[in-house]
Order: sequence, then structure tokens, then C-alpha cells
Amino acid sequence: MTASANANDLAIVRTVADLRRAVADFRKAGRTIGLVPTMGALHEGHVSLVKGALDRGDVPVTSIFVNPTQFGPKEDFSAYPRDEQGDFDKLRDAQCRIVFAPSKDEMYPGEQLTTVTVAGITDGLCGPLRPGHFQGVATVVSKLLLMAMPDRAYFGEKDYQQLQVIKRMVRDLAMPFEIVGMPTVREKDGLAMSSRNRYLSAEERTQALCMYRQLVKVADTVRDGRTSCAEASAAASRALRDGGFDIVEYFTVVDAESLKPLERVTGPARVIAAARLGRTRLIDNLAV
Ligand code: PAF
Repeated sequence: MTASANANDLAIVRTVADLRRAVADFRKAGRTIGLVPTMGALHEGHVSLVKGALDRGDVPVTSIFVNPTQFGPKEDFSAYPRDEQGDFDKLRDAQCRIVFAPSKDEMYPGEQLTTVTVAGITDGLCGPLRPGHFQGVATVVSKLLLMAMPDRAYFGEKDYQQLQVIKRMVRDLAMPFEIVGMPTVREKDGLAMSSRNRYLSAEERTQALCMYRQLVKVADTVRDGRTSCAEASAAASRALRDGGFDIVEYFTVVDAESLKPLERVTGPARVIAAARLGRTRLIDNLAV
């Protein structure tokens, strides 16, 4: 397998050894590497991460691995959408050059005794609601980074807490990678793109928009620094329930870096929400 034979080739690699060989070929040609970790079921949000890598001059390397260790026992691991051939086609069109699609045994060979835990910023929001989730994410992302050894890795701001966890992990462990957060890609009406949107019925798809509208409303309301974040968020939670959401897990305004809840906005902040609509769990956030 030669990774750089043709400018439009997408090298499909399944093993860590092949990934490292393919990356080394580009390194020998003086190129920098941009890793885009994904769980597949790719949409325009993922494509924007590949584009982000291209725009910075990196050779885009995408990983596709539905990571079992970040799903809870009652979560949608087995139902999570998988479309490998469709994903490869999208990556070819996006000018990605290497896709790493390992098996579970390749990612986790034999007994695994090591995990990565990021404390503090995982104490709130999705942390307590999805026990073990961020440890699963931090561990698999560490492994992917060490396998690919990129210059930069690209993550969407839609998973804002995940992005902050990864930035903190890289900083605390002095990992030699730059973490690039990319803006959330939205449907024309504002719904954040997500692989899980395909679970939504037509009616739920319409109701789902309520989350984006409330995020915009709360961001606009609390921006002045005088309005109570708790009051604005409570009104938004009520609007979500009235709009058809079954459970509002959280709707809150947090410090953009520490993710600690704010009573008033005094600096960079994020309005952030998670709620369930039928069998679909939606998350989204906006800068204030
Ligand atoms: O955001 C995702 O798709 C996943 O959490 C990630 C970062 C690929 C780790 O499995």
C-alpha cells in the first residue's frame, strides 16, 4: 500500500502498523498531518473537520471507530449508525487521504489495564449522566493520537464538553498535538448536524429545532451580564418540554473553559443543553 501514489487516493488502513506506514510516507514528503477522529456515519460536520485540516495544509487522516468504551450499558452502541462504504465515499470526495478503520481487537488488543481520566470538567453536564463516557473518550482519543502522531487533531464544537476534556488532557499530559475546535455545522434551519439526527421521526425533527431556538434566545438574554442565567435557563427548559421534549437533562450557562455554571455572564461563556426527544438524545451549545 502506498499512501501518496495518487493525489486523489484514499488509503484505507485497518491496522496501526499500516496507519503508521501511511503517515510516514507523507511525513517523508515533508507534509504535516491532521487527524479527524470520528465514529463514522459521517455528515457535513465531519466533512468540515477534514476541510479544516486541508485549509491548514495538513494531510487529513480520518479514523472511524465506534468506540464501545464510551457507551453506557443502556446506550445505543449496537444501534449506532454504521455505513462504512458511504463514509469512504464521502471521505474521498472531501479529499481525505488516509482512513483508519480498525477492528475492536486492533484498538484494544488483549487485556487493557490503562485508562485516561480527566477530573473536574467532567463533574457536571454529561459527566454524571453518562458515567464512564469521558474516560472512554479520553482513552480512545489518547490511543488514536499516539497511533497517528498528528500535528493537529480536529474536533467539532457541537460536543463542547468533549472538546474541553480533550484540550485539558492534551495540556495536562503535555501531549505534543494541537487540538483544533471547529464550529458546529447546522442544517439550514439551525439544527446542529449529528449522526443521531437520523433517529428522529418527521415530527421530532420539527420539534428538535426548539433546542436551537432556545439556545439563541438564552445567549441573547444573558449576554448583557445583568440577567440571571438560572432564570433564563429555567424558562428555556420549560419551553423545550412544552415543545415536545420528553426529558431536559440540562439547560445551563457555563464558563467557556471550566464549564462551571454561571449566575451572571462576565466573560467567555457557553449556553449548553442536553435533552431527550423520543429515543433520541440531543445535545447542542452556543457561545454567549
Ligand atoms: O466525537 C466522537 O465522534 C467520538 O467521541 C470520538 C472523539 C471519535 C471518540 O470516539
